[in-house]
Order: sequence, then structure tokens, then C-alpha cells
Amino acid sequence: MKIGVIGLGYVGLTTALTFAKLGFKVYGNDKDKDKLEKLKKGICPIYEPGLDELLAEMLEKNQIEFLEDITETIRISDVIFICVGTPTNPDGSPDLSQVEEVSKIIAENLNGYKLIVEKSTVPVQTAQWIKRTIKLYSNEDANFDVASNPEFLREGSALYDTFNPDRIVIGVENERAKEILLKIYEKINAPKIITDVNTAEIIKHASNAFLAMKISFINMVADLCEKTGADIKKVAEGMGYDKRIGREFLNAGIGYGGYCFPKDVKAFYYIGKSYGLDFSLLEAVERINNSRIDRVMEKLKNALWNLKNKKIAIWGLSFKPNTDDIREAPSIKIVKKLLEEGSIVSAYDPKAIENFKKLFPNIIYGKDKYEVLENANALLIITEWDEFKNVDFEKIKKLMRTHIIVDGRNIFECEEVLKYKFEYYPIGRSCY
Ligand code: UGA
Repeated sequence: MKIGVIGLGYVGLTTALTFAKLGFKVYGNDKDKDKLEKLKKGICPIYEPGLDELLAEMLEKNQIEFLEDITETIRISDVIFICVGTPTNPDGSPDLSQVEEVSKIIAENLNGYKLIVEKSTVPVQTAQWIKRTIKLYSNEDANFDVASNPEFLREGSALYDTFNPDRIVIGVENERAKEILLKIYEKINAPKIITDVNTAEIIKHASNAFLAMKISFINMVADLCEKTGADIKKVAEGMGYDKRIGREFLNAGIGYGGYCFPKDVKAFYYIGKSYGLDFSLLEAVERINNSRIDRVMEKLKNALWNLKNKKIAIWGLSFKPNTDDIREAPSIKIVKKLLEEGSIVSAYDPKAIENFKKLFPNIIYGKDKYEVLENANALLIITEWDEFKNVDFEKIKKLMRTHIIVDGRNIFECEEVLKYKFEYYPIGRSCY
């Protein structure tokens, strides 16, 4: 079985390499020619643990080929995974033009039976639209099926997640499509949920929206903890022992970012609304998330009075640890606000500085976590990279002008920081 993967972003590239590793011959295609050139040379365009090595291995074994020509990719493949982007339109609806475009090209290049699988996150009924589009633009005797097989990998642990998923969702219309997808995932040990395509599409959007809701919920409760002197970490622990709730995704902080949650919460809200349903719960999820930025700014102002000409050192720019991705990262909004206030911003991130420089070429960047602290009035922790968790507080103290830490990810315990006479302001709990 030959597998074509169209769109080589986080999901597409990881999927392509996973299938190659599982022993299938994979053809990857992307409209970005620079990216393809890099991939052919074994250069991974994104930072993701383990991906570089797997790319080298699969190229070496000739399990994967990167093709510039999308029509060739389609014609050569038995199964085609659509992994193109589904960004947000200004009104919050998902922009599916790339999915449509690929569907049309597939239609024009059908040469024998093919299974078309949507992997990108899409609104319910997109598979029906793909099917209709292929029918409209191909010959009457076109022989194909459309399936939905959403991806649940997380950036920063993408490979681990694809090889060890909690579940594999297979949305199909018939036995033939089901058997093909089961064959592809044969070697992956995970529960396989076989369902219709509409259900599969909703499972993906509902999962992301639910996780985002968990985060906004705990952030809402964190605000109450701050007002009342309670401790959000303990609240989350106490709630999390309940198996029905679970401890994961109850970390209060600066809120969710990244390419998926902000976009998917908006899209799911839009979809519900477009059917005349009350999805306002998700509107609140988004509103609470957006207000996290103001809460952090408030903390800085409460500690420093005026932010003008104050040097704020930032640890962490990526939207989460173990990635260089800064799409919809809270750091972008915070740095913008700090610059508006007239602050001097110095920032360090283990992987995301190059990406951040494209947006903010004129702030100060440090080569390590300590360099940015020189003469700083406050340290603001935005991303919880491991290297920020073990630090030399004596050294930090010597470097900083005033000893204030605003911890947007709750990585320290009060006692350990107060011991060194820092002022420490975490989220949803107070040290005083
Ligand atoms: C998310 C989902 O977790 C994946 O299952 C899904 O496949 C993916 O979106 C997608 O649709 O492609 P990802 O965005 O890579 O994955 O990262 P997460 O680990 O989910 O984190 C998302 C955001 O939530 C981050 O900004 C993170 O800092 C924040 N977060 C997470 C919290 O603020 N608190 C938490 O307790 C957990």
C-alpha cells in the first residue's frame, strides 16, 4: 500500500514519518517548495523531539519520498491523507479553501480506486463536502471513498503521541475503507473507534474544545483562589483525584495558545451557532482565556507600579515547552503590551528565539536564561520549559536590579523562592 500525505506541517510530517516507520512507502507533498527542499536534504523544518532522527532514518531506507508535484503524489498513492491547514476566517469560521483545492486536484487525477482520508481538523460534514467536490470535478465512474481519521498528537511530544495514542478514531462509510485504515494502524496498540464520518469529525473538535474548557475552568477558579487566599494547585490536585475529572489539563496559568485550541474553540463555537444551537459555553472559554494576558499585566503593575522604562526579563516564548512554535503564543500578546507600556523587554527561550525575532526584531534576546536577567526589574515566566525549573536563585538575585518574579506557569514553590527574599507572584495562589 502506497500512502500519499498532502500538507507537511506538524500533523502531516509526523503522520508521514510514522507511516513510513510502520513499513509503508510514503510520498509527502507540500506547496512550500523550500520546505520540500529541506526535507529532501534531511533537514526538519520544525523542532520536534525525535523527528530529525526519524526523517534521516526513513530517507536512508527510502521509505519516504518528497514530491513537488501534487498530481504525481495523488496518482502514485493508494491512500491519500489530507493534512493541509484549516486556518480561521476573520468571522471565526474555519477557512476550508485548502481542503477544497486539494479535493479538486484529487478529483482530476483519480486513476483507479483511492481512499481519501481527512486528517486536518475540520468541521462536521467536511468529508461530505470533499466527497461532493470529488464527484463534481471527476469522471462519473470515479472510484473512491472518503474517511475521517482525526489526529490527536500534541506538539512537543508528537512522535510519542502518534505511536502511543489514547485512541484511533476511524470514521468510514463502508467496510473497504474501514479495512484499509485498520491495516494501516494494525501495529499500533490502541483502542480503535470505528464510526461514521460525521461522528469522527465531531470527536476531534469536541475533544479540543473540552480540553480548552478544562483550562479556562481552572483559570477561572484560579482567579477566585487569588481573591480568597486559596491555593489553585491544591484545588486542582483535590479535584483531579476524582477519576471522572482527572488531573490533566488543570494547570492554571497564562492560558492556552498554539495553532489548535484557539482556532478550534472558535470554529466549534461557530459551527454550533451556525446550526442555531447555544454554544455560548465556548464563547466564555475563549473570553476567560483572553483575559489571562490582562491578569499577568496587572500582576506586573501591582509589583512594579509603572512599567515604563522597567526592564522585564521573559523566560519562555514558545506556546508550550519542547517546541519552537510561537503561533498564538501568549508571549506575543504580552510582549506587545509591554512595549506599549514603554518597558524594555529581554527574552530567552531554548528553541523559539529565531521565530520570535521575525515578529519582534528589536527586543533584547539572551543566549541563556541568566543573561536576560541582568539589571531586570522583574522576571516573567511564560513557558514552563524544564530548564527553568532548576535554577540558581543566588545567581539570579545578583543579576537582577529588583527581585520580583511573576510566574505565569506556577513552576516554583513559595518557600524555595521566598528563602532568597524574592517577591514571588504565581497564579491562583499567594505566598503572603
Ligand atoms: C492540542 C491537543 O492537546 C492535541 O490532542 C491535539 O491533537 C492538538 O491540539 C491539535 O489539534 O493538533 P497542542 O496544541 O500541541 O495539542 O498542545 P497542548 O499540550 O494541548 O497545549 C495547548 C495549550 O494549552 C498550551 O498553550 C498549554 O500551555 C496550555 N495548557 C495545557 C494549559 O494552560 N494548562 C494545562 O493544564 C494544559
